[in-house]
Amino acid sequence: MLVFEDVTAGYGSRSVLSSVSFSVQRGERVALVGPSGAGKSTIFRMSYGAFAPVSGRVFVGGSDLATLHGARLRAMRARIAVIFQAHGLVDQLSVMQNVIAGTFGSRSTVDALRAVVAPKPAERETARAALARVGLADRIASRAFELSGGQRQRVAIARAIAQRAELVLADEPAASLDPELGSEIVEMLLADAKARGATLLCSLHQPELARRFDRTIRVGGGIVAPEEPLASSGL
Ligand SMILES: Nc1ncnc2c1ncn2[C@@H]1O[C@H](COP(=O)(O)OP(=O)(O)OP(=O)(O)O)[C@@H](O)[C@H]1O
Ligand SMILES: [Mg+2]
Repeated sequence: MLVFEDVTAGYGSRSVLSSVSFSVQRGERVALVGPSGAGKSTIFRMSYGAFAPVSGRVFVGGSDLATLHGARLRAMRARIAVIFQAHGLVDQLSVMQNVIAGTFGSRSTVDALRAVVAPKPAERETARAALARVGLADRIASRAFELSGGQRQRVAIARAIAQRAELVLADEPAASLDPELGSEIVEMLLADAKARGATLLCSLHQPELARRFDRTIRVGGGIVAPEEPLASSGL
């Protein structure tokens, strides 16, 4: 589902990843671990075509992202849900509107606007159900700017759940949550991916959470070392 082939990447003269290769199979749930600054977020950016490698190739669902442009790139992104480290919410929209915005990639502009301004009952229900799963059903009408950091993080997770994407990329989804809620949210992402057969790549700093995944990939010093599959999480 996601393949990095000999990928080298950096910002200006700063090299971040050098000749990195790994692959994540369809339906696999993989933790991405490594110290701050190792390049985890850079791997996420490259995985949905928001950042291009200096050399090497990134494939999603068998397509080389560098060969996709315009409508084909948008169609590919509709298959990918991204939970950004910085949440990526639209402050002035309500919580529900932000969750509905997760389905934009698969819509025309007119239909996307319609869904935000006048969501259909089924769209409201999808958003409400996703928000209930992250414990925010009571904040559905709040504006995003009125929420705490952890609540914003949970809205971003609800948006990814509502998108029902084939590939879920979660960059430190537990980072701004207290440990208990963080672990619940990670369990939820694991269970949601398992139930739908979706592929999950999730960066984390907590080793005890990484152990819940099928496998861990470690990033550090410009290299990526795939580890042996860990014991099944039992989810
Ligand atoms: N936009 C940018 N411009 C210049 N350098 C950048 C940029 N984004 C990241 N970097 C640098 O690239 C390196 C890798 O950053 P990245 O954000 O991928 O790390 P990370 O593993 O996600 O770290 P963290 O655990 O702190 O989130 C860092 O040294 C960082 O300073
Ligand atoms: Mg990061």
